[in-house]
Amino acid sequence: MGDPLQKYLCLNDFETSARRRLPRPLFGYIAGASETNASLRYNAEDFDTYAFRPRVLRDVSGRSTRTTLLGERYDAPFGIAPMGISALMAYRGDVVLAEAAAKRRIPMIMSGSSLTRLEEVAGAAPGSWFQAYLPGEPDRIDALVDRVQCAGFQTLVLTVDTATLANRENNIRAGFSTPLRPSLRLAWQGISHPRWTIGTFLRTLVTQGVPHFENSYADRGAPIISSNIMRDFGRRDHLNWVHLERILARWPGKLVVKGVLHPDDASRVHDVGADGLIVSNHGGRQLDGTMSPISALPEIVARIGNKTTVMVDGGFRRGTGIIKALALGARFVFVGRPFLYAAVVAGGPAIRKAIDILKSEIHQDMALLGVVAIDDIDGSFVVRRDRLA
Ligand code: FNR
Repeated sequence: MGDPLQKYLCLNDFETSARRRLPRPLFGYIAGASETNASLRYNAEDFDTYAFRPRVLRDVSGRSTRTTLLGERYDAPFGIAPMGISALMAYRGDVVLAEAAAKRRIPMIMSGSSLTRLEEVAGAAPGSWFQAYLPGEPDRIDALVDRVQCAGFQTLVLTVDTATLANRENNIRAGFSTPLRPSLRLAWQGISHPRWTIGTFLRTLVTQGVPHFENSYADRGAPIISSNIMRDFGRRDHLNWVHLERILARWPGKLVVKGVLHPDDASRVHDVGADGLIVSNHGGRQLDGTMSPISALPEIVARIGNKTTVMVDGGFRRGTGIIKALALGARFVFVGRPFLYAAVVAGGPAIRKAIDILKSEIHQDMALLGVVAIDDIDGSFVVRRDRLA
């Protein structure tokens, strides 16, 4: 029998298969954005603002996609973005994503809205990063930061674009909520998607019991399925710069702030002492009509690119998109949905396949662009299409 993953030629191919495999409300949760999907659209469209201007005759035979980020060496200039409830979508989702990333020597950021205890992921894939959603409540901040440190994580990502839940009408229409509310409609979705129901959901129930939100705080949160329990989001809308300074004072590892789009905020993140930031609009899932991260990059890089580590995520599906971001001054790119779709399709092997596809695109693009090292990719390789005469 041939390799069943052979048919996957690009990252978007995993979406097509995951759509078939997942109950509609779950697929909708991953794919969806907020309100009119404008932010999501901008993320996809804005790569076209830039076009390449390649160089030739440069002997690119020795090219490599390796790079360094925050003092660590990685095999490619991209990693896996944090995605909540991955273990509901794919069997042991957080662990398989973390292990695949470790095997391929790229970073994986574990989500704080996850259903796997953070200690388990730290044990399975020690180089993983941890992302926290913290409320503006000092006691809860301290307790979670201490727990993340005890587990052995070395890089903490604080997501700051989530002061409140976004208006995700699509989730309501599709019957998705956290916790999931049992209903006939949901039961039918389970019956009509047996591979997910048996291979992920029932298998999880049998081996691990009902999944709970394990890492929102230092203690266990709500179960993923319940007819009446509400999730506790804490006072997220109270979070401010004073809390960030508190986290920095307490956390001994590297700290990255995720969800910055304004150069003044980027500058302040650096000034208060964070090690880096991720330019992000949360994959278009928060404020609708928000500028794309790729369009926010140039100003942020111009302001603080030489002082701190600027990373970016949102809409990256191709090596070319990643190279454009690097040319605009990003040090590293994170990719979300496609890796979760790959996890849904076939767990570890499919995630590794998706990583390999993206990495080989970059390798090929580097040759065609005329560069041998990731650090050689600079602004001279892209032009704004609207400025071409
Ligand atoms: C996310 N994202 C996210 N971000 C975060 O900081 N914490 C989280 O728990 C989650 N959860 C989450 C779940 C799902 C299903 C998705 C799709 C996204 C946002 C994520 O980290 C990242 O910013 C975007 O997904 C990047 O955009 P692409 O690559 O998905 O287009």
